[in-house]
Amino acid sequence: MSSSSKAAAAALPYSIIDDAELHDNAVEALYDRAFGPGRFAKTAERLREGNDCLKHLSRLAVSEGEVIAAVRLWPLMVGDVPGAVFVGPVAVDEAFRGSSLGLELTELCLEAAQKDGWKLAILIGSADYFGRIGFTKIPTQDYPIPGYVPEGRLLARELSAGVLADMQGPISVPRDARPAS
Ligand SMILES: CC(C)(COP(=O)(O)OP(=O)(O)OC[C@H]1O[C@@H](n2cnc3c(N)ncnc32)[C@H](O)[C@@H]1OP(=O)(O)O)[C@@H](O)C(=O)NCCC(=O)NCCS
Repeated sequence: MSSSSKAAAAALPYSIIDDAELHDNAVEALYDRAFGPGRFAKTAERLREGNDCLKHLSRLAVSEGEVIAAVRLWPLMVGDVPGAVFVGPVAVDEAFRGSSLGLELTELCLEAAQKDGWKLAILIGSADYFGRIGFTKIPTQDYPIPGYVPEGRLLARELSAGVLADMQGPISVPRDARPAS
């Protein structure tokens, strides 16, 4: 798609809605298109598998009945402390990229999470992109996660001022989200 037709597509009207089960197939199709077949091999998936998506805090953009962007939040523990959300996947349909819709949706998710009492947001992604909405790098040795993450791609944003000082340690899926073994 040329840059002018991309700009035209990005200007199409869209609405932001809460995530819900009825959109699951459309969201999965969007994520498949955005991330390709290697999607489930990503380290981030280790923090989503066996976890329960916080649907009431996740947001979708819809245009003419199609899901064109999605951001999901998931609960995480940092050390023994609950209260962190894991952000992602963040995806915008290729035809709608170019107006930072991914950041707009992420910001809306985080506003909802903050109102709901969540303290910290964590993601794996580009500091250049997510730094635009206040995410900063955190060291992987202080926040070990199950799987490899290149230094500089593990990012956090405080939802409660100063909370990073109290929340340190391994990042994991909350025990109550895991199936009983
Ligand atoms: C990443 C993604 C969500 C960005 O879409 P978007 O919100 O429409 O963002 P835009 O295309 O408007 O880009 C906004 C700015 O961020 C930059 N940017 C976009 N993706 C970037 C990335 N992965 N790394 C660094 N910068 C990026 C753009 O160059 C642009 O910069 P500019 O304002 O200086 O021109 C989209 O490209 C996508 O869905 N990619 C595939 C899935 C993915 O990689 N998701 C992110 C990891 S969770």
